[in-house]
Amino acid sequence: MEIINSQLIGTGSCIPDFILTNAMLEQMVDTSDEWIVKRTGVRERRIAKNTHTWELALGAAQDALQDAGVSAEELDLILVSTCTPDNNTPNTASILQDKLGARQVGAMDINNACTGFVSATDIADSYIKAGKAKTVLVVSAETLHRIVDYTDRSTCILFGDGAAAAVYRATENENVGIQSTFVAADGSGADYLHMQALPVEDPFAPERPVDPKARFLKMQGAAVVRFTARAVPLAIDTALQRAGVAAEEIDWVVPHQANLRILDVIAKRYHLPREKVYVNMEYFGNTSSASVPICLDEMRKKGLLSEGQTIVCTGFGAGLTYGAFVLKL
Ligand code: UT7
Repeated sequence: MEIINSQLIGTGSCIPDFILTNAMLEQMVDTSDEWIVKRTGVRERRIAKNTHTWELALGAAQDALQDAGVSAEELDLILVSTCTPDNNTPNTASILQDKLGARQVGAMDINNACTGFVSATDIADSYIKAGKAKTVLVVSAETLHRIVDYTDRSTCILFGDGAAAAVYRATENENVGIQSTFVAADGSGADYLHMQALPVEDPFAPERPVDPKARFLKMQGAAVVRFTARAVPLAIDTALQRAGVAAEEIDWVVPHQANLRILDVIAKRYHLPREKVYVNMEYFGNTSSASVPICLDEMRKKGLLSEGQTIVCTGFGAGLTYGAFVLKL
């Protein structure tokens, strides 16, 4: 059978200008720059002031299309991963289809929290492999500040806003593109990272109290760290095995930028020098599903990515969800 792979042909990003520093957070909650840097590695994060999620998505998409040299009319599928959409409906991808001037192709949102980019890439690859799409745009866009409780010091120090995008195109060259994907969920940990949808009064359940804080993200951080220490190696192992790629062949691991401890776990387990596990959380914090493509775009723009390299991307977060994919450039 003819082999069809999904080649990464372009990346882009849209990073908000406003910088929320640790010093600013010291004025907002009982915390310190020292605690934040030591426990999280984050020094600053971006806030999309007065900006819709779709606007960030559009900026990232246009940047990626330009990088790929692809016009919006060439897209066969538009996927947006976000857990902070502007609306429950319509989805962000439909808005993007219109704003980009794309044809009336499939346009869907994927809400898979911080695993969103990996999941969207998995779907993009499946469409391409099935011959249902040739060129797919994946955009991950988040305005997390809208669901962050800036009186909760255990979460507000972590999260930031941003968007990034990838363009995948079908290729018959089996040596490039997505080599394997893996995604999974363990819903038994649903309460560890949680935000209620539409926390409004229900006329059919008036006895159910409305918690004014329910619209905020709540996290049991230590429980999530324990989960990631188990789930991330499992995701990477499975993706490597499916790709038939040995750990020694990895040039870069690009993990979701959530906690420094997991970066050490990855480096140790795969005998990688720490510099091969890409980190930029210092400047952006945790941008949920946008973090992996923001890294990819930054790496591409810095000239760190080159033909022939093998990259492992991994995401993990609310759900609890986790996943990984192996990409050859
Ligand atoms: O994106 C999805 C995946 N997310 C993650 O992977 C995030 C995973 N979680 C983490 O990275 C860590 O759990 C955190 C960085 C969020 C927290 O670090 P921790 O070492 O797990 O701290 P902790 O929650 O166990 O809290 C330790 C102490 C507590 O004080 P006591 O009870 O020991 O007196 C907290 O109240 O640190 C306190 N604390 C803070 N102190 C100063 C919590 N947040 C802060 C803060 N500043 N911002």
